[in-house]
Amino acid sequence: MKFLSPYVPKLAKVLDVIEETPDIKTLKLRYIDEEEQRRFSFRPGQFAEVSVFGYGEAPFAIASSPSRSSEHFEVSVRAVGTVTRAIHALKPGDIVGVRAPLGKGFPIENFYDMNVIVLAGGTGLFAVSSLLHYICEHRHEFRDVVLLYGSREPRLIPRRYDLDYWSKYIDVYLTVDKPDETWRGFVGVVTQLLDKVPTPRGPHTVACVCGPPIMMRVSIPKLLSLGISRNRIYLSLEWKMQCGIGKCGHCMLSNGKYVCLDGPVFALSEIREEDIR
Ligand code: FES
Repeated sequence: MKFLSPYVPKLAKVLDVIEETPDIKTLKLRYIDEEEQRRFSFRPGQFAEVSVFGYGEAPFAIASSPSRSSEHFEVSVRAVGTVTRAIHALKPGDIVGVRAPLGKGFPIENFYDMNVIVLAGGTGLFAVSSLLHYICEHRHEFRDVVLLYGSREPRLIPRRYDLDYWSKYIDVYLTVDKPDETWRGFVGVVTQLLDKVPTPRGPHTVACVCGPPIMMRVSIPKLLSLGISRNRIYLSLEWKMQCGIGKCGHCMLSNGKYVCLDGPVFALSEIREEDIR
């Protein structure tokens, strides 16, 4: 019997590189092994470890639609360290290592016939992108759906093609901290949108939150005040991950669970607020 270590990545080719913002690029990837790609599937919210040989690997949310998984998949990467800068230097045709799908993702079966609020800030958008694709492609399965997204500046908003596409199916509201002369949208932190725009509320509502820890912590009392229960507020804690397969201990929560194995998405009722930092 052939045994493959979970540490061994599979080879994937860079099909395309999209420059999203001055410091974010999206890689469109496809496994070199055609059969591998054909069989590849993932749940909304799952992630991939991407390695650049000679530099190391890092975890990224799979940001593309799960329904396109047999053709290709995408990760959006902000250049912040050695591995991410090496990823930014990649060109179409280059080869990377990929271990995916990892984690459990969003419990989408709990979202059917519910209102959905998705609240994202900065690169937190990437962790909810596959969920939003799924919802838009199965729109009739959900009630009112709203995306609230905040960015520091208009020029730093990534994946605008997705935001345009999603806005055909769901309500999309954008806000920035620092507007420029072209900006006509909201100004202020994203959690303030919960007070400014019509959002669903009540027991038939779930909320999914991903962004900087401070934004996530501020959003919790606001979502609770909308009548959304703690077991229906889902938080993606993907920034805590490193190895992605339960070996390094880097992502362990105070309840002994691992973000990479048991998450990266958790209901608020499953974790302690001290873990959101
Ligand atoms: S990321 Fe290493 S144990 Fe979870």
